[in-house]
Formats: sequence, structure tokens, C-alpha cells
Amino acid sequence: ALGATAFAGVKLGHMWINDDLDDIKYEVDRVFYHFAKKEQERRKVVVLGSGWGALSFVRKLDPSQFDVTVVSPRPFFFYTPLLVGSTTGVVSPGAIIEPIRDNVPNCDFLRVHCKDVDLEEKKVHCDTGLTLDYDHLVVAVGAQPNTFGIPGVDKYGRFLKEIEHGRALRKEMLDIIEQAEVANASGDLATVKRLLNFVVVGGGPTGVEFCGELSDFIKQDLKRRYPKIADHFQVTLVEALPGLLTMFHKSVGNYVQDHLASQGVDVKLNAMVKEVEPEKVHLKTKEGVIDMDYGILVWVAGVGMRPFTRSVCEKIGKENGQTDRRGLLVDECLRVKGTKLGEVFAIGDCAVSGKPPTAQVAYQQGKYLGRMFRLGKEHLISDPEAAPFKYCHQGTMAYIGDSQGAAEIDPNAFIKLGRSSVTDHMWWRSLYGDTDQLRVMGPAGFAIWRSTYFSKLFSSRNRWSVASDWLRTGMFGRPASSSA
Ligand code: FAD
Ligand code: NAI
Repeated sequence: ALGATAFAGVKLGHMWINDDLDDIKYEVDRVFYHFAKKEQERRKVVVLGSGWGALSFVRKLDPSQFDVTVVSPRPFFFYTPLLVGSTTGVVSPGAIIEPIRDNVPNCDFLRVHCKDVDLEEKKVHCDTGLTLDYDHLVVAVGAQPNTFGIPGVDKYGRFLKEIEHGRALRKEMLDIIEQAEVANASGDLATVKRLLNFVVVGGGPTGVEFCGELSDFIKQDLKRRYPKIADHFQVTLVEALPGLLTMFHKSVGNYVQDHLASQGVDVKLNAMVKEVEPEKVHLKTKEGVIDMDYGILVWVAGVGMRPFTRSVCEKIGKENGQTDRRGLLVDECLRVKGTKLGEVFAIGDCAVSGKPPTAQVAYQQGKYLGRMFRLGKEHLISDPEAAPFKYCHQGTMAYIGDSQGAAEIDPNAFIKLGRSSVTDHMWWRSLYGDTDQLRVMGPAGFAIWRSTYFSKLFSSRNRWSVASDWLRTGMFGRPASSSA
């Protein structure tokens, strides 16, 4: 009895820490549901993807209820918030990935690309010629970098969306620095300057975080290792809009802009990339078109629909409600519009649900759908009045370099006990004015960013590896070889 009580205590504590109070209610529901439930045939669920949305969905399912197959070309989950750090070597890529098979032990995993869906016959076709039947299909294939059709971006731009992008970018950056050292030895200063101009396109969180990490790398490691070319390192951030980090309050964007400038980043606002050539980028600015030489151009200008998602949209058709160019339109229960109720769902970046394409949204959507399935509420899901998905925004945060961060947190998201909202109180208004958000910038923002993303890592193995990588970087600096 003591052991059982201790186990229940640890389980409750774990759920509480993980901000999962709702789960307690669902666990209780599930136990009672199992008592009441009669033996039924396990229905086939096919999940497309192995990212944030797919994994949080599958982890919530009860495998005794469903026959689950996860289909994805990527046999691991990877923790996107620390991808930028892996490009400079603060963390190693291996520390932020987690094998899918360790996380979905009761499901089948098939490493294939889904190519097509037959919505009438309820079949998915994969690139190896494999065909799978489903009763329920969950599309969680994410998004891909958006080039907006700008000439040269596909060919000469470098992306930062997948783990392979991070690895390739790191290798190329270090190779270019070695080339610059050789050019310097030959006295070719123009080439040195061009090679060492790292142009980052996109002042959203990925672009800002990359500029922050890169300027740290340059200041703390590269200038010391390459003293002869140290003065020529340059990071240029190009953004089409008049400010950075537009999902934050304007004051945060202004702070980040000043901070990056103080770190030596040349921030160019109101500058839109029009064309990219092998060594030159053309920018449209208020003053006219500017040409800029670059050594490497990192394209982090937002995400768009994958060709697979587009083909599903086209298959369903505009006449049946698929009218959005960003992804699959879903209703408030994440059912894909224009498909039979309860058959096809979409979550995460490939779904258009009125929420931003973030891990936070994908994770919560996966969890919601998994709970619905786990509770045996697929009947509810095919019910036009099913309980809708409710998003709880917990905050937005980004690393901005030099051990500083920017965080915007909604304190009400952490109060789940039915108390009145924190920001309704007079003391809040007198301290923070007319806002529901707590904004923290500087070293405190960094502490919040780091501790939050550390606590959200998927496994203890990841936490151990990331903590030791951070310690290694703090003590010995970042590895300087492209093979490390
Ligand atoms: P993904 O996680 O991209 O997963 C898609 C999966 O589908 C992958 O496994 C892929 O291999 C698979 N797939 C693709 N095509 C097919 C196919 N045809 N058939 C089968 N499977 C397929 N969000 C935050 O909230 N906070 C952050 O700090 C944050 N930081 C980020 C940092 C970076 C550098 C980037 C790029 C993104 C960041 N995001 C962050 C956004 C976040 O990563 C995405 O919103 C999130 O990954 C979306 O999850 P998803 O499950 O929809 O897609
Ligand atoms: P984004 O869409 O947030 O930002 C892209 C930026 O590029 C925009 O500001 C846009 O104006 C600019 N841009 C587009 N085309 C351009 C052009 N031709 N020339 C110059 N600038 C151009 O994209 P990002 O940063 O890749 O993020 C993608 C998603 O992932 C977002 O939803 C974001 O919220 C999420 N994310 C969240 C993070 C966090 O919370 N810390 C970190 C990274 C990503």
C-alpha cells in the first residue's frame, strides 16, 4: 500500500510539474471507462509524422484500444528549440534527438514517406509501394521552409528547419572560415570580407536566435582561433518588416534590435530579399535596390506547406472547404474540413487552425486528440458537437545572444485552479500596466528560456546529454572542427 501510495504521489507530482493537471481528470475517466467498456475490435490508426504533434498524440493513446502505425521518413523525434544551438556546437545534434521506437513501444513504426491518400478507400500510399489501410488518419507532417518563389533561394540559400540542415550549416560555416584564412594568406582581402559575411534572412525567432548564437560563437571562440581574420567576421540580419520578433510586443522587438546591434550584428530592417545569386544577394529597401556580397546565406524567412499537404488539400478541393494556401483547414476539433467526420485529422504546422505554427500548439493539439481517442471518444469526434480543442498559450521566448533572452509569459496560463486571473488584480496593473503578459528581457529572460526548454526536453537521456554539452561548452568552448 505504501509503495502504491508513493507511486501515485510521484505520478501526480510528475503530472503537476509537467503542467498536466487535466491529465489527472483524464486518468480517472479512463479507469472508469475501462470498467464500463465492452471488448471491441481494435481500430486502425495511421499517424503521418514523427514530430511534436505526432509524438504527443501517440503518447496519449491506449494501445489496447487501437492498432497504431506511425509513418515517417524520420526515425527520431528532434527537439527544434535547441536546433540553432547545434549549428555552433553549443549542443551536439545527438543530444537533441530521441529514437521514435523508444517512445512508441506499442505501436508500429515504418520509415517511409507517405506519398498519397485515398480518402474514399481509406488507404495511404507510401514511397516504397507500401499501402496501409486506416480507420482514422492523423496527418502531422509539419511544414517546410518557405522560399516564396524568390529566385535563387532554393539553390543558394541554406535552411534551418531539420537536424540535417543544422549539421550541414555548421560544416559549411567552418569550411568557409578555413577558406577565408587561405584567402587572407594570399592577400585577397575582398574575398575574406565576402566569405566572412554571414547573411541571415528573416527577423523572426529562428533568425534572431541564430544571430545571437553566431555572434557568441564568433566572439567567444572564432576570433581567438582565427586571430588573423578576426576583424572581418560580420553577421547581417535582413528583415522585410520595420521590426524584429513581431509575435512579441514592440518593446521586446526594439530591445532585441538594440541588443543584437551591441553584439556587432548589422540589423537591416525594411529590406526585402528579391533575388539570391551565388555570392550576392539583392535587397529591396526604401533607398532602392542594394547588392550585398555574402559567404553564406541562411534563409529563415518562415514556413509553408509541404507538397504532400498540398496534394491532400487539392484532393479534397476548394469546393469542399480546403481554400487556404498555408495548409489543411481543420475545424475546432481538428477534423479536416471536407472529409467524413471522425476519419481524417490534421495537427501541428500542416493544419490551419487559427493558431501559429509552433511546437507548443502542435504538442497541445496532439495531446488533445490523443485524449479524445484514449477516452474512447472517437464517437464524440464524429459528433458534430464534439468538445473543441482549447489552446493554452504559456508564453513565447527566444535566446538573443550574450547570455540574454527575451520572454513573454502569460501568468494566467499557470493558474489552473479556478482562481480569478492574476492580471485582473490591482497590484498587477500598478506594476505592469494594461497588459496580461509578463515581459522579461536580459539575463533573467535567458534563465527563463534555458530552464523552460531544459525542463521540456523529451527524455532524461536528452536532459543528461544537453546538460553535459552546456557544461562542456562553458568550460572548453565550442568544438571548432566541422566533423565534431
Ligand atoms: P514537425 O515537428 O516538423 O514534424 C513533422 C514530421 O512529419 C517529421 O517527422 C517529418 O519527418 C514527417 N514527415 C514529413 N513529410 C512526411 C510524409 N510525406 N509522410 C510521413 N511523414 C512525413 N516552436 C515553439 O513553440 N518554440 C520554440 O522554441 C521553437 N523553436 C524552433 C526552432 C527552430 C529552429 C524551428 C525550425 C522551429 C521552432 N519551433 C518552435 C517551431 C516548431 O518546431 C514547429 O512548430 C513544430 O516542429 C511543428 O510540429 P509538427 O509535429 O507539426 O511538425
Ligand atoms: P517567422 O515566420 O516567424 O519569421 C520570418 C521572418 O522573415 C518574418 O519576420 C518575415 O517578415 C521575414 N521575411 C520573409 N520573407 C522575407 C524576405 N524576402 N526578405 C526579408 N525578410 C523576409 O519564421 P521563423 O523564425 O522561421 O519561425 C517559424 C515558426 O516557428 C514561427 O511560428 C515561430 O513562432 C516558430 N518558432 C518559435 C521559436 C520560439 O518560440 N522561440 C523559435 C523558432 C521558431
